[in-house]
Amino acid sequence: MMIKRYIYGKPIETEAVVKTLAPTEGTVPYLTATETEEAYVFEYDMNAYDRLYGLGENVRGINKRGHIYESNCSDDPMHDEGKSSLYGAHNFLIIKGQKTFGLFIDMPSKVIFDCGYSHKDQLKITVTSKDFDLYIIEEKSFTAIIKAFRELIGPSYIAPKWAFGYQQSRWGYKNEEDLKKVVAGYRENHIPLDAIYMDIDFMDNFKDFTIDPNGFSDFKATVAELKEQGVRLVPIVDAGVKIEKGYDVYEEGVEKGYFCTNEKGEDFVAAVWPGLVHFPDFLNKDTRKWFGEKYKILLDEGIEGFWNDMNEPAIFYTPEGLQEAFEKVDEIRQKDNIGIYEYFDLKDSVSHTGNNPKDYQSFYHQVGDQRIRHDKVHNLYGYNMTRAAGEAFETLEPDKRILLFSRASYIGMHRYGGIWTGDNISWWSHLLLNIKMMPSLNMCGILYTGADLGGFGGNTTEDLLLRWLQFGCFTPLMRNHSALGTREQEAYQFTDLESFKNIIGIRYGLVPYLYSEYMKAALRNELYFRTLMMDYPEDSFAENVEDQLMVGESLMVAPVYEQNARGRYVYLPEEMLMIKFKSLTDRSYKIMEKGHHYIEVELEEMVCFIKPNHFIPLCSGGEYIEALDESHLELCGFIKDEASYELYQDDGFSKDYHNPAHFTHIKVSKENKALQVTCNKSELSFTLNLH
Ligand code: NOJ
Repeated sequence: MMIKRYIYGKPIETEAVVKTLAPTEGTVPYLTATETEEAYVFEYDMNAYDRLYGLGENVRGINKRGHIYESNCSDDPMHDEGKSSLYGAHNFLIIKGQKTFGLFIDMPSKVIFDCGYSHKDQLKITVTSKDFDLYIIEEKSFTAIIKAFRELIGPSYIAPKWAFGYQQSRWGYKNEEDLKKVVAGYRENHIPLDAIYMDIDFMDNFKDFTIDPNGFSDFKATVAELKEQGVRLVPIVDAGVKIEKGYDVYEEGVEKGYFCTNEKGEDFVAAVWPGLVHFPDFLNKDTRKWFGEKYKILLDEGIEGFWNDMNEPAIFYTPEGLQEAFEKVDEIRQKDNIGIYEYFDLKDSVSHTGNNPKDYQSFYHQVGDQRIRHDKVHNLYGYNMTRAAGEAFETLEPDKRILLFSRASYIGMHRYGGIWTGDNISWWSHLLLNIKMMPSLNMCGILYTGADLGGFGGNTTEDLLLRWLQFGCFTPLMRNHSALGTREQEAYQFTDLESFKNIIGIRYGLVPYLYSEYMKAALRNELYFRTLMMDYPEDSFAENVEDQLMVGESLMVAPVYEQNARGRYVYLPEEMLMIKFKSLTDRSYKIMEKGHHYIEVELEEMVCFIKPNHFIPLCSGGEYIEALDESHLELCGFIKDEASYELYQDDGFSKDYHNPAHFTHIKVSKENKALQVTCNKSELSFTLNLH
């Protein structure tokens, strides 16, 4: 592997990488570097065919060229094409074209990637600090660059197998009755389900690690009762700790000095869901240890998974910011005649109290003997909150995988948990964005991921949710989540129940394949979701395709993502077998030649494509993951002469990931039209459905 590390100034230790490379002397190749008063600027001249890939969680296309992006963890649910940042900050980019190389900027504050926005043929990267590491990765192929980067940043977090089931969430489930009602809605309609999420309302006044005594008479019993039915409860943990006398997390944090401080050294105060809060200083390892141990409170109740939220950290307002807004309002109120600009000023002064850059400059972290202002390390906050939990689970549950994912992230966090892609909206464009974001996230080691299916904000529609679930069938995290006050969007709320049951049912049939592909990708630093270009580097058209993805080694998906569409155009980079599912068992097949096709896909149908000499293992489905029988598998595929497959099967909890007993080698060969299957495990049996 050829990775060169260039050290600028005295970089802040982010622990994004796991390999310490000796610094390379001399000038950085490919890029022109300019030092300004407060920043470093790197430029690269692009020709018409250069493409830019990476940047993890961000807006717009897979090829990032043509827009400006900022690495700056931001809480912005209304994200559209005009935005430049989302919840994560992932500074890994590959330039592909006349020269092909990768770069990673390890710097935890804002980095601006102007990808041909100011000048269409120029890439200009502004690192807003003089202290950082720059890694340049040179390898023989595009995919080899990604693999080298993944080896540099260390292995991806691995989720328990039950987290590959369908999961239901909604902001607004308040108590045990609400949760049980949802479980009943699924079970009575025989729509599979593995988990229900508990959003902020399950807590006592939004206090982390508490349970509302009015909502739950016996929380542990509820957790156990639902688990009996194959459903796990997944509580939220927010970054802000409520300021409340007598609340132990608050009292201990104050006493031990575990919170971020303001300029004067007092605990910094901001407002989030609980009202006024302090932010744990997750950059301090003692704070991490302390906060991480708090998850035990919920583990002891039988909880096996968590989602960490609001950890950019999101700030609704600070008392100082609010005061300023009041003063502005008073000042404008004094005027006899309010001009139109003053009116806008008035509006802005109130709406800009949230996530205000000024507030991020007003609090501090203690890292060793260094006191660091938050904006200098902003992108490390959510990462270290999730790391606190991940590290604690190593001690609290050394032999068991705990589900964990976060909203904010930075490279390095992928070792401790996954992410969900934050607040989206019930827009068709956000379904497409979900599709496009997946390979870029995988490039950064984030494998356990998915979007709020159906859309978080706004009212979903039956067709949007069905289409989104059809894609969600392939994302490791398959979770339907929606905001308080929006239309209820549990699968059983709609008219065509049968279709919801069928689509979610297909996911369960696919689990032997999806889980094997996920585990192999995680264990070998590979990608679960790839662009077509990665598998077909010689095919110049494949590079243009951004709305089809390779999923694991055998499959290509081409989701329908437009309202009222009854089909779509698909590009096949080689001859493939199309499987059209109406349900897990009701399928039709067609061998299709390389090239462009229009395929019909009705709202209740789902298609995927199998590469030649490949097959996928399917099981017969079930209502939750642990109920699946994976001892008998259907091998469904497209065989010209022979194909082999490596199946991964384990108990789904333990951590002996590399145990050779988990890998099964299946081989199918075709001679004179007769098919033969060989497998190294006699306890498995197969039905063949090969074309
Ligand atoms: C913001 C999160 O992104 C969302 O998923 C959650 O429902 C709300 N916070 C309320 O907790």
